[in-house]
Amino acid sequence: MHGFVNFFMESPFFLLFTLNVIILLTKAPARSKYCEFTTNITFYMKSQQISYSFIQNLAILSKKSAGFLNIFLCVSLLCGRLSADAQNFSQNDAKVQALLAQMTLDEKIGQMVQVDSGGIVDKGDVAKYYLGSVFSGGNSDPAAGNSPQAWLDEVNGFKAEALQTRLKIPLIYGIDAVHGHNNIEGAVIFPHHIGMGATHDPELVKRAEQVTAAEVAGTGIRWAFAPCIAVPQDERWGRTYEGYSDQPDLVAELGAAAVKGFQGEELSNDPLSVLACAKHFIGDGGTHGGKDQGDAECDEATLRRLYLPPYKAAIKAGVGSIMVSYSSWNGAKMHGNKYLLTQVLKGELGFQGFLVSDWAAIDQISPNYRTDVESSINAGLDMVMIPYGPGRQNNYVEFIQDLKALVAAGKVPQSRIDDAVSRILRIKYQMGLFDGDSTDPKLTAAIGSPEHRAVARECVRESLVLLKNEHQTLPLSKQLKHLVVVGEAADDLGMQCGGWTIDWQGRKGKVTPGGTTLLAAIKGAVSSGTTVTYSADGSEVSGADAVVVVVGEEPYAEMKGDRRNLDLSEADRALIAKAKATGAPVVTILYSGRPLVLGPALKESDAFVAAWLPGTEGEGMTDVLFGDTPFTGTLARNWPKSDEELAGLSSTAHSLFKNGFGLKN
Ligand code: BGC
Ligand code: BGC
Repeated sequence: MHGFVNFFMESPFFLLFTLNVIILLTKAPARSKYCEFTTNITFYMKSQQISYSFIQNLAILSKKSAGFLNIFLCVSLLCGRLSADAQNFSQNDAKVQALLAQMTLDEKIGQMVQVDSGGIVDKGDVAKYYLGSVFSGGNSDPAAGNSPQAWLDEVNGFKAEALQTRLKIPLIYGIDAVHGHNNIEGAVIFPHHIGMGATHDPELVKRAEQVTAAEVAGTGIRWAFAPCIAVPQDERWGRTYEGYSDQPDLVAELGAAAVKGFQGEELSNDPLSVLACAKHFIGDGGTHGGKDQGDAECDEATLRRLYLPPYKAAIKAGVGSIMVSYSSWNGAKMHGNKYLLTQVLKGELGFQGFLVSDWAAIDQISPNYRTDVESSINAGLDMVMIPYGPGRQNNYVEFIQDLKALVAAGKVPQSRIDDAVSRILRIKYQMGLFDGDSTDPKLTAAIGSPEHRAVARECVRESLVLLKNEHQTLPLSKQLKHLVVVGEAADDLGMQCGGWTIDWQGRKGKVTPGGTTLLAAIKGAVSSGTTVTYSADGSEVSGADAVVVVVGEEPYAEMKGDRRNLDLSEADRALIAKAKATGAPVVTILYSGRPLVLGPALKESDAFVAAWLPGTEGEGMTDVLFGDTPFTGTLARNWPKSDEELAGLSSTAHSLFKNGFGLKN
C-alpha cells in the first residue's frame, strides 16, 4: 500500500485523477471547462509522446486499485478526452485467453514458429507441428512458378494445412514486399525507400503501400516484412537504399505513413489490411563502418535519439509486428537483448503486437542453438523465422524440441510462452483470420495493373533529385532532332529496380514482365521527328543534339552490397567523358542505392539527376526529364564528396550536397 501511495503521488496523473473526482461532483459549466483542460493535457502528451507510459501507469494503477481506476476512466471517457494514441489490439483478448486455455504446449510452440516455404519439404508438417506462420525468403518461389496464380495456390495450400489441426488456428503468411510485391512476376516495382525518402511525401508513401498491400493480398498473403525504418548513417552499408533517410524525423514520418498504407487506418479484417512489419529493431543503420549485421557502437542516448523515433511513430500508427535486427548494440546481439525488446519496446513504448526474428538470426547469438532459443525467447522474441527444414542445422523441428525442453526445465517460463502466443493470436483475431480469409480473384487480376503502375510512376517522378542543371539543359525538348542515349543501365530493367526484385539480390536484365526501361520511355516520349540512337557502350554518339548517359550500381542486397569504396566505376566515368567529348549537352542519370562519390563525372555533365533505384516505371523519369512535370525531389541524406568523408576522415560539413538539396527547373 505504501508503495502504491508513493507511486500515485509521484505520478503526473495524480493531478488529473484528483481533478476528475472533483469534476464528478461539479455542475455542467465547470465540466466543460475541464474538458478543455484535459484536451490540452492530451495534446501535450501527444506532442511529448508520453501517452503510452500514461496507459502503462493506468495499467499499474488498475492492478493496485480497481476502484480508483474506474472513477478515473469513467470520468475521462465521459469527457471524451482519453484518446488512445495507437490502435488498441486488446479488444479480442477474451477470445485469445479462451483459446490459449485450450492449447497444449506443442500447439503453443507451433504458433511461435515461422518457417520458410523452401524449408518445408512435407507440407503436412504445418499441421503436424501446428506451425503458426510460413514465409517466403527472397529466393523461395513456389515450385509451380512465379506467377501471381502460382503464389496464390501455394499460399492457399499452406493455409489449408493449418486448418487441418484440432483447433484450426489460421496461419499467417509473410513475405518481403519492400518496394512493391517484389518477389512476384509482373508485380509493380516501386522506387526503393531511399527514393521515396527524396519525395518527402507521406501521403504518396501511404498510397504506394496501399497499392503494394493490394498486390500482396492478391496472392493470398496478409503480412509484409515492411517498412524498413532503418536510419542509415553510413552509405557503405549495402542496405542504405532500404532506409528513407539519415534523419530520424523523416524516417518516422514516412514509416508511419507506410504502416497506414499497409494496414489501413487500423489493422482490421478488411481483406486489404495487410499486417506491416517495422524492421529491423534497432540500430541496424548505425553499425560501425556501415557493416551489414554489424555493431552499433553508441551510448543509449544516441541510440534513442537516432533510431528510436521511427519505432515510436510506427507503434503510434498501429504497426502490428516488428522484426528484430541481426545487428548488435555495443557488442551484444539484439536478438538476445531483453532490455530493448521487452523493457523498451513492449514496456515503455507499449508495443502490443508481436516480435518476429530475422532469418536464422537467433543462431548468431552463441555457438549453442538451445542457448540461443532460451536467450531470445526470454529476451522477448515472440515468433522465430526459421529457414531450414529437417536434415539441416537449426531447423524447425530442432527448435520445437529445444523450446519444449527449455519449458520443461523451467528455463523458459510458461508465462513467456503464453505472452508470445497471446500476442500472435491477438493479431490474427484483429485481422479477422479466424473468420476465413479467401482472396478476391479481382485482386489477383489487378497485380501489375495500369492503375497500380500509375501510382509507382508518380513516385518515380517525385523521387528524382536534380543535382546540377547548367544552361537549362533540362528539361529536354521532345523536338530534338537527334537524341543519343548511352549506358547499359538505360535499357536494363533489373538495374533500374535494384536488389529485392524477383531474386533476393536482384539481377540485371529483363527481371520481370511489364514495366518500361528509361530507353523505352524516352522513345515513347519524344516527337515522331526525333531520332533516338542507343548504344550501351557509347560507341554511337556522333551527331547528337544531346546525350543522355545512364550509369550506376549493379543490383545487390543485404550482405553482398557493402562497399568500402563508393566511387563511380571507371567504366561509368569513361562513358560520361566520352559523351562530354561530343560537345553536345550531357545529361547524366545515376541509378544507385546510395549517393556515390562522383569525382569528375559531375563536372563533365551539364545536368545530373540522382534517380536512386526507381523500379519498373521508367516513364516517371521521362515525365520530368522532358518537362511534363517539374523536379520536386530533394536529398533526404547528405551526399559525400569523398571516400574519406565516408570513412569519417573528413567531416560532413564538406559534403558535396547537403541534406535537403535539390534544384528546381
Ligand atoms: C532480412 C530481412 C528479411 C528476411 C526475410 C533477412 O535476411 O534481413 O529484412 O525480411 O531476411 O527474407
Ligand atoms: C534472405 C532470404 C534469402 C536467403 C538466401 C536470406 O538472408 O533473407 O530472403 O532467400 O538469404 O540465402
